[in-house]
This record gives sequence, C-alpha cells and structure tokens, in this order.
Amino acid sequence: MGIAQDQTLVNLHWGGAVESVRDFAAVSGHFPFEPASHLLREEYSTFGGLRFMEPCLKAELPGGVRDCVLRYSRHVIEDEAHLAVEMREIGYDLKVTLHYKSYPEYNVLVRWAEILNEGAAPVRLEEALSGSLCLPYGRPWRLTYLAGHWAGETRVVEENLWAGKKVLESRRGTTSHQLNPVVFLDRGEADEEAGEVWACLLAWSGNWKIVAEYVGHEQLRLSAGINDFDFNWFLAPGERFVTPRLVAAYSDGGFGTLSRLLHRFQRRVILPKNHAGRPRPVIFNTWETLYFNVNEENLRRLADLAARIGVEVFVVDDGWFRGRDNDTAGLGDWEPDPRKFPRGLRPVIEHVKSLGMRFGIWVEPEMVNPNSDLYRRHPDWVYHFPGRPRSEMRNQLVLNLCKGDVREYVLGLLDRLLTENEIGFVKWDMNRSFSEPGWPDAPYERQREIWVRHVRAVYEILEELRRRHPDVIFEGCSGGGGRVDLGAMERFDQFWTSDNTDAVDRLYIQEGFSYAYCAKSMGAWVTGVPNFLTNRSPSLEFRFHSAMMGALGISVNLLELSPEQMEEARMHIEHYKEIRHIVQDGDLYRLRSPRRHRVAAFQYVTEDASESVVFLFSLLRGFGEPEPPIRLRGLDARSTYQLDGQETRSGDFLMSVGIEPGLRGDLKSRVIHLKRV
Ligand code: DGJ
Repeated sequence: MGIAQDQTLVNLHWGGAVESVRDFAAVSGHFPFEPASHLLREEYSTFGGLRFMEPCLKAELPGGVRDCVLRYSRHVIEDEAHLAVEMREIGYDLKVTLHYKSYPEYNVLVRWAEILNEGAAPVRLEEALSGSLCLPYGRPWRLTYLAGHWAGETRVVEENLWAGKKVLESRRGTTSHQLNPVVFLDRGEADEEAGEVWACLLAWSGNWKIVAEYVGHEQLRLSAGINDFDFNWFLAPGERFVTPRLVAAYSDGGFGTLSRLLHRFQRRVILPKNHAGRPRPVIFNTWETLYFNVNEENLRRLADLAARIGVEVFVVDDGWFRGRDNDTAGLGDWEPDPRKFPRGLRPVIEHVKSLGMRFGIWVEPEMVNPNSDLYRRHPDWVYHFPGRPRSEMRNQLVLNLCKGDVREYVLGLLDRLLTENEIGFVKWDMNRSFSEPGWPDAPYERQREIWVRHVRAVYEILEELRRRHPDVIFEGCSGGGGRVDLGAMERFDQFWTSDNTDAVDRLYIQEGFSYAYCAKSMGAWVTGVPNFLTNRSPSLEFRFHSAMMGALGISVNLLELSPEQMEEARMHIEHYKEIRHIVQDGDLYRLRSPRRHRVAAFQYVTEDASESVVFLFSLLRGFGEPEPPIRLRGLDARSTYQLDGQETRSGDFLMSVGIEPGLRGDLKSRVIHLKRV
C-alpha cells in the first residue's frame, strides 16, 4: 500500500512477494474523465468526491451529507502479522480502520474494516463492504466461481471479463446454493498446477456480494462484503460496525496449489480448534433411509446394523420431534414425539451408546412451521410486515433471531437438548430463504439491520453452544450446501455438502467444493439406488469411493442390504478408516477433472509425503480407447512407494510416468493406497 499525495490509501501491488518496497514508484494519475481515485487503486473506496465505482462505504453523515471522503491518518502494527490502518472522514468524526492480518505460510491475507462513529450525531451506513482488492493491470481476466442450485451446488463456472462489472451475490438471507462467496481470477493461462491465480473468499453466511469491476484503465478491482441490498445500519454516536472478514489468497502454482494453501489455512486457522485435529467420524444418518418415519423400534434395528459395519456416530435426522410426520408441521416443538418415542430419546441413545457409537441429532432451530404450538403461541416471533402475507417455503417461516427473547429461546432449547441427552453430534439445518424481512417492533431506523443481526445471532448461539458443549461436533446444513462459507466454517466442524447424493454428480459438486474448501469439512454419504434424484444406480463400491473423498457418512437403508453387501460396506468403512487421515488432513491434487476427462482422478497426500491415496472413477467410456497413464503428484521423487501393500514404484516414476487407471467399463472405480517404504 501507499499513501497518495492527497492522503488517500492506495494499493500498489497484490500478488507475488516483493522484498524491496523502495522499488515502487510514487503513485499519481491523470487522464481526462478518469478522476485520480479511479486511477490510483484505492484500498477502500467511498461514495464521495469524484468516485463512480462500487463503493466499499456509502454513508449518510449528519445533516443529510451523503458525501464521504476518507484520508489516511495513521497506522498501528498490532503485532507482527496484524496491521491496522486508520482513516478519517474529512469533515465528520468518522473513523474507518482497515485491518490486515497476514498468514504468509498460506499466502493468505485476511482483511476487514471497522467503522467507528466518534461524532455526536448518528450516521447511517448504506453500504459497508469488507474491502477492495486490486488485481494487476490487464485484460481479460478469467473469473472462476462456484455456482449451481439446490442439489447441484458448487459447480465450477468460468467466464472472461472484458469490461464493466460482474456481480455475484446472495439476497436470500443465507450464503445460497446458487452462488458461493468465492472467486478466483487468472489471466486465462493458469491451470491446475501452473500459473498465477488470485482468490477472494468471504467469511459471511448472510446476504453477500462480490463485485469484479474494471475501473480506470485495464484495472480490475474486486469489492466484497455484506450485500448493500436492503442494507442499512444505524451507527449511533460511539458505536462501531465491524465487517465480516475477507480472505485474499494468491498462488503462482495454479488452482491446485491455491486450493491446497486454502485447505491448510482452513484446517489450521479456520475450523473450530477443538475438533480440527481429530479425525471426522463415520456417521450413519437416517434421512435417506427413513425420512420422517423414525421411531424407537426402527432406530434400534438400524443402529444394530450400523454398529456392525463400523459406524461411529448414529445420527437421527428429521422427524423425531412432536407432530413431525412430514414437512408441514412440527418445527418449533422440539420435544420427542411421544407416538414415536413413548419413553423419550433416552432408550435409543442408551442403545446407540451400548453399541459403541455416539448419538447425533438433527435440528432446524431458526425455523417454525405455522402448524406448531410455538407459532400458535408466538405468531410475532417470525420476520414479517404487519398485515402482509407471510410467504412460506417448505411450509415454514424464519424465526426473528434479532429479538432477544427468540434468541434466548433457541439457545435454551438447544442447550437443554444437549444437557439432558448424551449427544455427540448436531446437524443444524436451514431450509428456506428469507422473505418479508420485517422486524416491526424494532425502532424504525434499525429495522433493516435484520440481514446482519440474524447471521450474527446464529454465530453467537453456535459459539455459546460450542463453549458449553465442547465435545459436540456440529454439522452445518442448509438443504445441502446452502450455507457453506468461511464464516460458517469457523463454527461448524463440517458441512452437509449437497442433498444430491448421486455418486457421479457428487464428483462434480465435490470437485467444485474442493476449489475453495477442505475435504475435512465436506460431508459425503453413501445412499441407496436408484438415486432418488437422478435414478442412477452406480455400484456400492463406486458410491463408497465417491463418498470416501470427504467426511464419510452412510444413509443407505441397511435393512435392505444383503449379507454380502453388509460385508462389503464393512470393508469399505474399514478401508476408509485406514486412509481418512490422508483424505481429511492431506493435500489434494485434482489429477483429472470429471469435467474434462473420461476417467476422473483425485489424489490426497499426507503433508510429509509418506502416504497417498488415489481415487479413480471411470465415467462414460467411449470408442474403446485406452486411458493414458495418470501421473501422480506431491510425492517424494527419491522415495519408493508400495501400492496397496503389493508392488513398489519410485516416486519419480509415479510422478513422471504414472499409473495405469485399470478401469474397464462405465462407472467403475478404484482406490490405491501408497505408502513410502
Ligand atoms: C435438508 C437436508 O439437507 C437433508 O439432509 C435432511 O436433513 C432434510 N433437510 C430433512 O428435512
């Protein structure tokens, strides 16, 4: 960064490391119809003065002044890795502090802004982004991002940006299935293992926005943060607004290196500390086996079978609470349904425990069905505008967590559930987008704060629950991957990646997920065939192999498996337990993308290169063509590796010549475990 003559804070460079700061020329700029602010690459642009680009800050100052101009005032090095740069508004006591925290071992820079009203009158924030990032000059830039829909999340999309502005966002109240808050930029030349790639991720689980915009001359600028759509924040004198964090990452080793840096960063810095270092357990989840039809009897029978194949956590999904026979009723009434559990949950939990497994449970605490006692008692506890329709999605409404009593209620019910029952795993679901975002009993000037306050409330409740129940593993879910982001990852140990459990579709969804997020956080289940969504029927082996690339779960109806299939499932789970440390804590190499090859290949390598596991999947094979050998990566060239306990190959051979995929026919799969001898 530098400080321009007029004291604006400007970016000098973001990319490969440069040791000598002195080599940067003094910054200046002039061109007709391009104000200096457009040429100088401001770090935190405002709506004010001669500025026509996406502002990071749009504030209404006292007296109806909507012009806001910030000047550098001083900076503080909080510690070796944390810089705080203060800027002040030229006419009002508004202080904006830009925070930069660097994590050089991951090529990551974390940024956020803090806006403090030091004046005597209130200020209204109409936009308050986390920051802007300036890319090196040139065009076009290729934008790579993760897009999709319910049951088709996080698929990789690429497009070239030539001019103007591209906006990715969510206005749904949550992160969204449609777009994920992460972008990658390269000059169209990077591939998996070579070339420069820049990335920006946002740690926020509510309305967000990432804008890629050409400003000035061939200058691409990324601005990211809370979406300004319907946003308004009332900053009373003395109050401060802290933005979510933005994570900027860079690699000159292609998309693969960038992902590996992000994954390591997440495992060491982002994921909740108490479980980050432990293996994710193998879970059984009742959803695709029983749907809402859970009861003491069938859970006992399933638990017996789950324990037999090596499951470690037995999770009861939706359907266990009062009145919940389908999705039209029950949300809000969080007691075990006496028709299904006449003796409560305890006998099931005891049974699960006696089988050596932990018990897990599904909740959707932010929601209420109008057909519930909770809603009949508190119709004012949901977001709504008085006298207006309340749009339902999946027959449910969103609880207004901005209200203190609602927050207390949600925290209380979950705390009670975890205190009164021996529960080791919670799946926290969220199955609708927001609508009619009204909070009628709040002061008028605060009513639009709900978008931010709701997310903060979810975060606070989760943090408090984690504090009170540190052994519990929390899985984040929003109808699959509707709330996957770094903010959620700081509070959830893992995500339910997608309701799409088709093992082939999953290769695409999981590949996209892996661009930004680590395997340890990626829940993946083996489910029954034909798949409920795609009607496809891959073998049990293929389904296991596809799901073994993340945190493995099972939701296949074990009651319908033959003894041979049960034995096969047991063997796969045993195999998974032998390799999960490599998958969950290793480096991922996307050797062959299912988007471009008939055989997809993914490789995980322990950080010390002593072990590796390769997953191979044949998709639609054509014309009888042989598949060329697949070159491995990340091994120690001078070491020898044993493949599946049998033949040995040298590291340099495996990386320079490769392995034969050895798959004949469609939808075949193979997993190869390599160990250094
Ligand atoms: C959506 C989730 O993604 C599913 O796994 C399941 O938990 C259902 N909700 C239950 O209603």
